[in-house]
Amino acid sequence: MAPLPSFLVPLLITAASAAIDPFTSGFPSPWAVGGLGWDEAYTKAKEFVSGLTLVEKVNLTTGTGWEADRCVGVTGSVPRLGFRGFCLQDGPLGIRYTDHNSAFPAGINVGATFSRRLMRLRGEAMGSEFHDKGIDVQLGPAAGPLGRVPQGGRNWEGFSPDPYLTGVAMAETIKGIQSKGVIACAKHYILNEQEHFRNSISVKIDDRTLHELYLWPFADSVRAGVGSIMCSYNKIEGLYSCENNWTTNYILKNELSFQGFVVSDWGAQKTTLGSALNGLDMAMPGGPFSPTPGPYSGAIWGGLLTEAVLRGDVPQWRLDDMVVRIMASYFKVHTGNYTTRPDINFSSWEKKAEGYFHPSSKSSWGVVNEFVDVQRNHAALIREIGAKSIVLLKNSNSALPLRKPASVAVIGRDAQDDPLGPNACVERACINATVAMGWGSGTAEYPYLISPSTALKARAAVDGTAFTSIVGNWDLAQAQAAARNASVAIVFATAHAGEDFVDVDGNKGDRNNLTLWDNGDALIRAVAAVNNNTVVVLHTAGPVVLDYAKAHPNVTAILWAGYPGQESGNGLADVLYGDVNPQGRSPFTWGKSVEDYGAELLFTAPDPRNPTQSFDEGVFIDYRHFQKAGIAPTWEFGFGLSYTTFDYSGLKIVSHNGEDTLTPTQMINEGLTEPASTFGTLNRSISANIPPAGFNKIWPYVYPWLSGSNVTIVPSTAAVTPATNGSEQRVLPAGGAPGGNPRLYEVMYTITAEIKNTGTVPGTEIPQLYVQLGGEENPWGVLRGFDDVALAPGETKMVKFELTRRDISNWNTTSQNWEIWSKPKFVFVGSSSNRIRLNATLPAPPGMVWV
Ligand SMILES: *[C@@H]1O[C@H](CO)[C@@H](O)[C@H](O)[C@H]1NC(C)=O
Ligand SMILES: *[C@@H]1O[C@H](CO)[C@@H](O)[C@H](O)[C@H]1NC(C)=O
Ligand SMILES: *[C@@H]1O[C@H](CO)[C@@H](O)[C@H](O)[C@H]1NC(C)=O
Ligand SMILES: *[C@@H]1O[C@H](CO)[C@@H](O)[C@H](O)[C@H]1NC(C)=O
Ligand SMILES: *[C@@H]1O[C@H](CO)[C@@H](O)[C@H](O)[C@H]1NC(C)=O
Ligand SMILES: *[C@@H]1O[C@H](CO)[C@@H](O)[C@H](O)[C@H]1NC(C)=O
Ligand SMILES: *[C@@H]1O[C@H](CO)[C@@H](O)[C@H](O)[C@H]1NC(C)=O
Ligand SMILES: *[C@@H]1O[C@H](CO)[C@@H](O)[C@H](O)[C@H]1NC(C)=O
Ligand SMILES: *[C@@H]1O[C@H](CO)[C@@H](O)[C@H](O)[C@H]1NC(C)=O
Ligand SMILES: *[C@@H]1O[C@H](CO)[C@@H](O)[C@H](O)[C@H]1NC(C)=O
Ligand SMILES: *[C@@H]1O[C@H](CO)[C@@H](O)[C@H](O)[C@H]1NC(C)=O
Ligand SMILES: *[C@@H]1O[C@H](CO)[C@@H](O)[C@H](O)[C@H]1NC(C)=O
Repeated sequence: MAPLPSFLVPLLITAASAAIDPFTSGFPSPWAVGGLGWDEAYTKAKEFVSGLTLVEKVNLTTGTGWEADRCVGVTGSVPRLGFRGFCLQDGPLGIRYTDHNSAFPAGINVGATFSRRLMRLRGEAMGSEFHDKGIDVQLGPAAGPLGRVPQGGRNWEGFSPDPYLTGVAMAETIKGIQSKGVIACAKHYILNEQEHFRNSISVKIDDRTLHELYLWPFADSVRAGVGSIMCSYNKIEGLYSCENNWTTNYILKNELSFQGFVVSDWGAQKTTLGSALNGLDMAMPGGPFSPTPGPYSGAIWGGLLTEAVLRGDVPQWRLDDMVVRIMASYFKVHTGNYTTRPDINFSSWEKKAEGYFHPSSKSSWGVVNEFVDVQRNHAALIREIGAKSIVLLKNSNSALPLRKPASVAVIGRDAQDDPLGPNACVERACINATVAMGWGSGTAEYPYLISPSTALKARAAVDGTAFTSIVGNWDLAQAQAAARNASVAIVFATAHAGEDFVDVDGNKGDRNNLTLWDNGDALIRAVAAVNNNTVVVLHTAGPVVLDYAKAHPNVTAILWAGYPGQESGNGLADVLYGDVNPQGRSPFTWGKSVEDYGAELLFTAPDPRNPTQSFDEGVFIDYRHFQKAGIAPTWEFGFGLSYTTFDYSGLKIVSHNGEDTLTPTQMINEGLTEPASTFGTLNRSISANIPPAGFNKIWPYVYPWLSGSNVTIVPSTAAVTPATNGSEQRVLPAGGAPGGNPRLYEVMYTITAEIKNTGTVPGTEIPQLYVQLGGEENPWGVLRGFDDVALAPGETKMVKFELTRRDISNWNTTSQNWEIWSKPKFVFVGSSSNRIRLNATLPAPPGMVWV
């Protein structure tokens, strides 16, 4: 046997013996190293960080406190270099707490478009608005909650309980936002699936479910280059998400090779060392919501992080890594240099022009809000997404589209304008008028809101249609009187959801039930009893129980319009009148009861301070559960009607893995990282780390300095632990590059089919590809491809799906890797998860046989 090249032998031996095996010897914090899309940013960040002092570094990791500056979160700055603090602002559907911004459709509507183009365009439009207000980090998009339970209060902020659809939407949104010079923040990482007990609940989950379901869209986010990820409020397996060595260090930063920074949800940081050593990079808002007296104002980092570094409890490499990650994200999205970003020109805390720059300390009065109009022409895109996300669930007797009806009666509070304006209810937490977004921190202020009533009245005027519009949710006799003689009666209803800090009608964020609110079901029944052309329009956070309306002969059409944002009424009118042929597809399953969904929301706990919840249903949520349990839904995942019809034919599969030299079942990614690096030398003297003489601190502002010159630093005598060890780490088998082993994303099959418009009007079909991976442990089928195909009448187009290695793999918890199991696999192409039009056996990769 030929000897190994001499340079390899010693390296292998010494490195391997010194290396930390992250799986068997703890879950240490991996350090940023650049890689796929990050190299240039990483080089710039290293250089920038090398020139910083200890307190300047700490400044960039810690927020200045709640309402201490103008954004919902602002870090300390580096005045010496003219570098202002980072401005972080909510939320996933537009800018919260300001003015002259757009209110975009919610994530759940974007999921319903199944359109990569619209996902990307919305991301770009939002990114440009955040950029122009001077915001550095947009706190969105959301893939957590994914939607384990349909009542989940914040499901609508994300895209769908299907991880594939959500993953595509996350990646497109992130690329869109970051192309405009704004860092996106994928949140909430991870398993924050309900609002009840979100600050204390501990979730038990098996490793396979974590990978195949909840982590999946975060992997897509990391691969798309997301700059930041927000750890969530809940615990996973007993440890808080923001101090969780398994989910953050091992999975996110090692396996997924995330190179950006982890920021805490507001108040989700618990301890100085627990967070620093287990992967947190930025603490928000930096101080507690109720600051305490003293030099640190109750902050967990700031001066306490400086102390911990000086003691040696937090190694310099870990602090440097935090700041390198933050700055690398910054350089990654910035086309110019760090002096060229726009200034912040709004205040979250002040609607008028003048106010305090530092509201928490009531200091620095001046012009804090310049009313910069950042909306551009985004209204057109918002209207388009609003229309194209509408899911037509029922359309009998060709009730729709409307053709100059003699009379229209619009019925229900959910169709109306709020006389006090669309932002009358704080955090959008009410149902006083039409609902076009959920409530809580995932909201934006509406610049205006086109109600359905306003839009339909304008349309009626053009057509010479007699028009009536009434609130009438509780006065059923009045509703019936209006509906009785109308050519068409359009009934509006809502079911609202949001974040736990506001309670609406006894719903603490999560919905208490799956029925309509505000007497909505009774209203629909009352109207349908007297009008045989009743159209139902729903603005709901997710599914509601509606099988009675589906079966009712007088309910001729049902449309789910979700949370469409500021152009709500216009987008709806476009679909009702056929200017836009409906193409939305349901991004979730509609059950006949809450029990149909299998997984349960935890509403009560024996010990509310320490509730636990086990995700025993595994990967079987939403349609995966309905199929496994043999439950017929009212409408299935992926379902939606059109005003035309489509034909499917010619399924073809081409395999691409002929040249594959690895074992087809498993790819091993081996090797070692470099040891951790430090950047610059820290001046560890006390005098270098206290405020400069004459500096005037304003309480409760959070600073990076030690409390004073008399502070005592007792050097740590603790032994080096996995968490503080900066030696080489092993690259995990599934890791190696942002998003995981790049070979997971190799295309193994191209699948094509022909789609034909067989009707008489133009329309867009959403063909969907489902894969059956085989075996009891896998769902009947999982979504692994979709497209939006616009077709003129009679036109045929080819749709192409690409299946990657990851798409046909399962997670092996023993080998800690993705593997193609040898169960026979099938592909299905259809117009929904139940309406399969074409199918075929997937050929086994070379060297494998299906058994
Ligand atoms: C993760 O951290 C917890 C708490 O600090 C610790 O008990 C546990 O041993 C760590 N796990 C590993 C594998 O290091
Ligand atoms: C830290 O940031 C604060 C707020 O921006 C600033 O006042 C202070 O001077 C900064 N400290 C250092 C050491 O740069
Ligand atoms: C940043 O860009 C501006 C304008 O392009 C330029 O004048 C300045 O020198 C640059 N600064 C650095 C630090 O590169
Ligand atoms: C935001 O305000 C700053 C001044 O504070 C100004 O320089 C900048 O141009 C403004 N941005 C826009 C887009 O008007
Ligand atoms: C919402 O409507 C209720 C009555 O239905 C009223 O009491 C409340 O003041 C309204 N809220 C706002 C913010 O307009
Ligand atoms: C409805 O039609 C009935 C019978 O055609 C008629 O008697 C009644 O006056 C009409 N009601 C309204 C409100 O137009
Ligand atoms: C479900 O909750 C809504 C909102 O709180 C309420 O209006 C409705 O009456 C509830 N439904 C049932 C059946 O209790
Ligand atoms: C349907 O509407 C008609 C009025 O157009 C009414 O007479 C009939 O009872 C309704 N049917 C049902 C099942 O409510
Ligand atoms: C609906 O009711 C109208 C009269 O109100 C009647 O002319 C029409 O035939 C009915 N349509 C159906 C499908 O029953
Ligand atoms: C440190 O000095 C400050 C005044 O500068 C004083 O308030 C504080 O009590 C001193 N702390 C200790 C531990 O001596
Ligand atoms: C998972 O990996 C282990 C260790 O490599 C192997 O023994 C086992 O067969 C794998 N499980 C499956 C289901 O392939
Ligand atoms: C698969 O396609 C064949 C016809 O090619 C059909 O008979 C069969 O029912 C289909 N299976 C499914 C599950 O759609």
